This record gives sequence, structure tokens and C-alpha cells, in this order.
Amino acid sequence: MADITVIGSNMFELTTYVGRMPVQGETLEAPEFEMGFGGKGANQAIAAARLGSDVNFITMVGDDSFGQQQLDNYRENGIRPEGIGVGKGSSGVAPIFVDPTGDNRILIIKGANEQLTPAVLDEKIDLIKDSKLIVLQQEIALATNYHAIDLGLKYNVPVLLNPAPANDHLNIDYVSKVAFFTPNETELATLTGMPTGNLDEIQAAANHLIDLGVGNLIITLGSKGALWVTKGHAEIVPGKKVKAIDTTGAGDSFIGSFAHYYTQGEDVPTALQHANAYAAVTVTRRGTQKAYPTAAELAELQQVTE
Ligand code: RIB
Ligand code: NA
Repeated sequence: MADITVIGSNMFELTTYVGRMPVQGETLEAPEFEMGFGGKGANQAIAAARLGSDVNFITMVGDDSFGQQQLDNYRENGIRPEGIGVGKGSSGVAPIFVDPTGDNRILIIKGANEQLTPAVLDEKIDLIKDSKLIVLQQEIALATNYHAIDLGLKYNVPVLLNPAPANDHLNIDYVSKVAFFTPNETELATLTGMPTGNLDEIQAAANHLIDLGVGNLIITLGSKGALWVTKGHAEIVPGKKVKAIDTTGAGDSFIGSFAHYYTQGEDVPTALQHANAYAAVTVTRRGTQKAYPTAAELAELQQVTE
């Protein structure tokens, strides 16, 4: 039995570090370029695996050289191979642009991720039904996520839905069925149609979803940490202030590490505190997965900063 089943996307990243973005019609030289492994699903799976969780990752790579490299990457990181499928055509790719402040702009071309259909989940049902937590994001078809949520309910496996990137079409009936819903402020506003400009507004929008049936609402607030809301209770778990050089994939590291700490038995606020600390490390380093520490590395880093 695996601890965590992540169902979602993988992307091959083509990251350009820019001084500034070119304007229309302009050709501009950029100082640096790096390739890497990413995709919101893959990032969350890798974060949990590096911390020591036993992780199933249900995803589809393409039958190209990027797909082959992805398979090697999952093997090297100890992710169970049974959930990973090789589809037809190109793997998902993500051209990314990171500016000198560490902020990013991301394009995704889904490629083989489109082949992760509800039927694929049925084929992998044995992997799914025996895990402690199902983790979902939104770089695959909504229909696949809805099926995953139904399977979670059927087999009594709690589901965490991270609604990133935001999707206007997300059906609120499905949101109300999940154990953990983890939007940022923007995603919360998109879904509820309510303003989320300050904490009072965020709280009101959160209460609206709690009333609909979401068990735990975790609103990620970037470097400010996270707001945890359940029925009749709200609590801010503050983040750590660090100097960011590349925030790409920080949100994914937060979700993946939270899934790890929570399924290892920590209560929600403690798991959130540890996830904040994990994500803080990742923004001080370049890249997404390549910035995610292992448990041993994290312990070492924490000794240095204590
Ligand atoms: O959340 C960051 C991720 O979004 C990157 O890894 C990129 O590949 C895109 O999927
Ligand atoms: Na980073």
C-alpha cells in the first residue's frame, strides 16, 4: 500500500532566465537557460517521495526522448513505476521565463497529459484504492479529476484537490466532495465569484465552501503562509521569510510536502508549518524539482539555520 497517489501532469521544462521579457517583434539575448523536470503533478509526487513517502504517480508521458527522461527521473526518485503510462506523441512541455526578482511566467503544452483519461484510472484502480491520500491538480482533463474524486469517495480514500492552474469550469459540486481543497487567493475568487482582497473577504469565501461540504480548506498565501479553515475554525500558519531567487514550483513543493507530513500522521497545522518550511527552501534555489530537498538534506539545512 502506497502512502500517496498523485494523479496528474508531468512536463519537461525549458526555462529561460531573463533580464526582462522581449516586447513584440523584439529579439533579445537572455543570460541563461536550463532544462528540468516539472509539471504540477510530478512536482508534488517528487516532493513527497524525496521526503520519504511511498508514492504512486499516475501520469502519461509521451513516446519521445523527453518521456524517456521522465521515466528515468521517477525511477531515480523512488516513485513506483506502475502508475506511469507511455502514450503516443509528444510529452508535455513547459516553456518558463523567470525574471530577476524570481517571479515566473509559464506556458504549458499538455501533450501526452491529455491521454490521462478516466479509463486510465479504472485500469489503475488497485493502486488508487489502497492509498492514504489522493492528490490532484488541474493540468489534466477535469473529467479525469472528477472521476478520481468519485473513486476516492467510493473507496474511502480522502482526496486533496489543488485547483492550479485556475479553471473557470471547475464544478463546485465536485469541490464539495473533497477532504482538502487548497486554492490560492486568486483561485478561491475564481471559483466562488467572491472578492478575496483581504483576510475578511478570504474568510467569507472560505466559509462559503465549508458550508458546501469541503472538509478542510487550505488557502495558500505565498510567503505569508497558509490559512486553514474548517467548520467553525480558522487559523493562519505563518510562512518563513527568505530571499527568493526562483519561486517556480514552490506551491507544488508545499502541496507535496504537506501530503507527506499529513499522511505520516501529523495534524493539519503541524503539517502546514512543515510544508511552509519546505517550500521556503525551494524558492532560494533555481528550478522546480531540482530545488526540492530530500529529508536528509532538509535536516542538514535546518541545522545550519538554527
Ligand atoms: O507549478 C509549476 C509547474 O507548472 C512547473 O513545473 C511547470 O512545468 C508547470 O507545470
Ligand atoms: Na525554486
